[in-house]
Amino acid sequence: HNLLLLNGPNLNMLGKREPEIYGKETLEQIVEKLSVEAEQFNIQLDHLQSNSEADIINKIHQAFQQVDFIIINPAAFTHTSVAIRDAILSVNIPFIEVHLSNVHKREKFRHHSYLSDIAEAVICGLGSKGYSYALDAAARKLNSINE
Ligand code: DQA
Repeated sequence: HNLLLLNGPNLNMLGKREPEIYGKETLEQIVEKLSVEAEQFNIQLDHLQSNSEADIINKIHQAFQQVDFIIINPAAFTHTSVAIRDAILSVNIPFIEVHLSNVHKREKFRHHSYLSDIAEAVICGLGSKGYSYALDAAARKLNSINE
């Protein structure tokens, strides 16, 4: 199975960026860990981090009929992007939305997501572990493991 991991703007700054909110791990370390976990699940993991909305949209379009599941942390685009919502709807690929921080505990403008109502699930506030939990859930779904 093929899984696409997408990370939005400023997540390339993880480790340096507001570590008290987002943790000390770099995105590279997080993706490395996830790649190992994906392998154990027999899942092929492709990753893109971009600060550009267009790149993220184009990557979602390329995933059409190629990718079985998406894990996305849209970062600030979560709260602004109808275009990313429409892109995901256009390819009809199930996805889990992940946020490192608990967005509901933060500023009001972070409480609304353009993606949550069309996501399979939303994980927030568990730091980088959230990605692993999302991968675990995706793998169980793809490998038809029932609990
Ligand atoms: C974030 C939360 C967003 O509100 C913020 O804009 C981010 C990161 C998170 O992972 O906690 O850039 O998606």
